[in-house]
Amino acid sequence: MPHHPKPRRAASKLKPVAGGRGKAPQARALVESPAGFRSSTGDCEVLVGDCREVLAKHPSVLAGEVDLVFADPPFNWNRAYDQWDDKMPREDYLTFTFDWLDRCIQALKPTGTLFVNIPDDTCAEIVCYLKGHLGRKPTQVLHMVNWCIWHYRFGQNQEGAFINSKVHTLYFAKDRAKRTWNPREVLELTDRASTYADKRTLTKKDGMPAGMRVPLDVWYGPYWGRIQGNNAERRHGHDNQLPEVYLERVIRCASNPGDLVMDPFTGSGTTGTVALNLGRRYLGTEFSRDNARRASERMILLGPARPLGQQHGISTAIAPKRRALTLPSTTIG
Ligand SMILES: C[S@@+](CC[C@H](N)C(=O)[O-])C[C@H]1O[C@@H](n2cnc3c(N)ncnc32)[C@H](O)[C@@H]1O
Repeated sequence: MPHHPKPRRAASKLKPVAGGRGKAPQARALVESPAGFRSSTGDCEVLVGDCREVLAKHPSVLAGEVDLVFADPPFNWNRAYDQWDDKMPREDYLTFTFDWLDRCIQALKPTGTLFVNIPDDTCAEIVCYLKGHLGRKPTQVLHMVNWCIWHYRFGQNQEGAFINSKVHTLYFAKDRAKRTWNPREVLELTDRASTYADKRTLTKKDGMPAGMRVPLDVWYGPYWGRIQGNNAERRHGHDNQLPEVYLERVIRCASNPGDLVMDPFTGSGTTGTVALNLGRRYLGTEFSRDNARRASERMILLGPARPLGQQHGISTAIAPKRRALTLPSTTIG
């Protein structure tokens, strides 16, 4: 039974912390137990085991007190994970997927949101499942907010089909209208401001500051590439690490300081690293104890490889710059 280890003890509730934007990590120590790893400050917990079983017993999941779930599951691509068997029969993989999705739905507050990072193979099935359109119904139907794309330029080369250069970022909410949504935390420059010197962007009436907009639903830009080679963020033993800027966007827009962020597939710990640095609390699960240890060291002791906050107010325009506008100094803040 390679997918079903038993968690060794019931976990405790996470303590709230005082949060702050881009705050330096507090002085934290790493505490190991048979169940997993946690921070001495009580704001981070990584439990070792199969997320389906561990989360089914966790008090924060049972109480539905998670504000944001980010999930980057194994893709069933036969990757050499430390422990996990990444080559399940297709039907088993779908059952696995729907099972962990149910635990995530159960964990969310009524204002909560779920983001799933998933490639083409299983994206359609997850969308249909969360919307309640498959034979098996989710524990609660969710509402799609966006179907985003994470675009990167270094896909795996191939000649028989177009080269893959994206993963889907599915953004769902329990209640679209009541969800936590902080657009001003993730603004970027409009193309009118960065590229076309078009003054209409200074008087636009969409509620966002002059010359700024909510990011597009295709995500790319500086530091958004896959974490490979000698990338400064790269962590030993993880070839599926997400960029910190990706998690920064998700966590800033969909949670507030002090909120509880959950990731069932901790991996190298990108979600928790960014969450703690932004003053959130973190609850993660990870099948491999070695991965969980390394991830906890990164989250609790090291922090992000690059300072957060650098994406705010930048341009992602593709067209070459013609002329840029000088914005009012209050705009970027
Ligand atoms: C794609 S990686 C996550 C990468 C992560 N987002 C990052 O940036 O480092 C998936 C991780 O989930 C873990 N995993 C796979 N199946 C699991 C399960 N059933 N429960 C908990 N963790 C699991 C794997 O060991 C692997 O570390």
